[in-house]
Amino acid sequence: MRVLVVGGGGREHAIVEALRRSGADILAAMANQNPGIRRAAKEVLLGDVNAVERVVGWAQDQRAELAVIGPEAPLERGVVDALEARGIPTVGPTKAAAQLETNKEFTRDLMKTAGIPGLPSYWAFDSYAPFSEFVLDSNFEFVIKPLGLTGGKGVQVWGDHFSSKEGALAYGREILEKRIGGAARFLVEEKLVGEEFSLQALCDGKRLVPCPLAQDHKRAYEGDRGPNTGGMGSYSDADHLLPFVTKLDYEQALETMRRTVEAMADRGTPFKGVLYGGFMATKDGPKLLEYNVRFADPESMNVLPILEDNFVDLCSSVASGGLSLRARFAKKATVCKYVVPPGYGTHPRAGEQLKVDEESIRRTGAHLYYAAVDERDGKVYTTTSRSLAVVGVADDLEGAESVSEEALAFIGGSFYARRDIGKPEAIARKVEKMRKIRGGP
Ligand code: AMP
Ligand code: GLY
Repeated sequence: MRVLVVGGGGREHAIVEALRRSGADILAAMANQNPGIRRAAKEVLLGDVNAVERVVGWAQDQRAELAVIGPEAPLERGVVDALEARGIPTVGPTKAAAQLETNKEFTRDLMKTAGIPGLPSYWAFDSYAPFSEFVLDSNFEFVIKPLGLTGGKGVQVWGDHFSSKEGALAYGREILEKRIGGAARFLVEEKLVGEEFSLQALCDGKRLVPCPLAQDHKRAYEGDRGPNTGGMGSYSDADHLLPFVTKLDYEQALETMRRTVEAMADRGTPFKGVLYGGFMATKDGPKLLEYNVRFADPESMNVLPILEDNFVDLCSSVASGGLSLRARFAKKATVCKYVVPPGYGTHPRAGEQLKVDEESIRRTGAHLYYAAVDERDGKVYTTTSRSLAVVGVADDLEGAESVSEEALAFIGGSFYARRDIGKPEAIARKVEKMRKIRGGP
């Protein structure tokens, strides 16, 4: 089957690999020359993937039979509506259903109206005076969220990004003035305390098929310090839960997502594609931080390599309806570490050559996924975004972490990677933190 894959990052390389394993021919549309995707693809369209008409026209010329959309921006621009109008079944939500990610107020209101569990307290503001009144009267910590897409950089958290009422007021004013996130309106939410986890699920508009849980690491530096990034790496465990997440937490999070899918169908905008819930495990159970309407990056690289079912068949049934009740994943732990340019998070240095010894990495058993690199004359250079990722897979987390480290040793040049991700001490700290939050012994 000829499958269009839109996007050129690590997530899309993992999608391409899983589709290839299941027998697909790949038509790749991407902005950068991702060497891994380029080699795996039959045909490549380079250029802006948000230029919907161009991408869709090309897909049609190339006789694409199915499409999988990686990033959120083309979803917001209606690439799924356009592909389906030309008869190409697509894994991804329509523009109307993509609002679960592209409009945070839409999601909160949907949860409230349908009585969906996992909703924190929230308020919406579109002018300064009521916001200022709210802030001056408040006696709790909160977060401030622009409504639309901000590349993961719009949310500001009390204690992280600001630590006084003045700081909060300044950011509220800035959102209103600059229309950050696309509107002169924003949300305020109670600040949730706990550990974050990601639940990704395939969805055909009615049924939801969950993937193993994974945990991303958004902070740039070891010990979860430094600025927020797109995600520095992630892990998943052999039992498909996480060491600090109970079976009940998992079931409640899945229930939040099931009820959301039901509510979307009820309002006539069924959700089809990949729904990825970012949850906070709290002492009162899991709360939804946000939805994304696509695979997670990096967490897709934890789940796709251990998928045992045929991914092309799964994608076809997402796009056309009739998804089975569950998908099978190997009972393996995985650890993904991103290699990023030096200075990533503040002043990333583009143009650094990376020497990737692919053969030796393969011998360690690790998966290698290229992301935002430039390839020139067979050489690989950093850009200002994440460069490539290695993923160790093993029977337990300790084993998977060792394999990821063995693989990193075969990458030369100037780069940074968070070596602490998946290490036993780092995981023990998270378990201990959650034990305290839950008020355990
Ligand atoms: P979002 O773009 O909504 O995922 O928010 C980005 C990050 O902000 C999340 O991954 C959390 O770390 C943090 N965040 C968002 N909402 C809250 C909240 N209600 N309480 C605490 N942290 C939050
Ligand atoms: N894991 C962060 C993201 O995919 O947005």
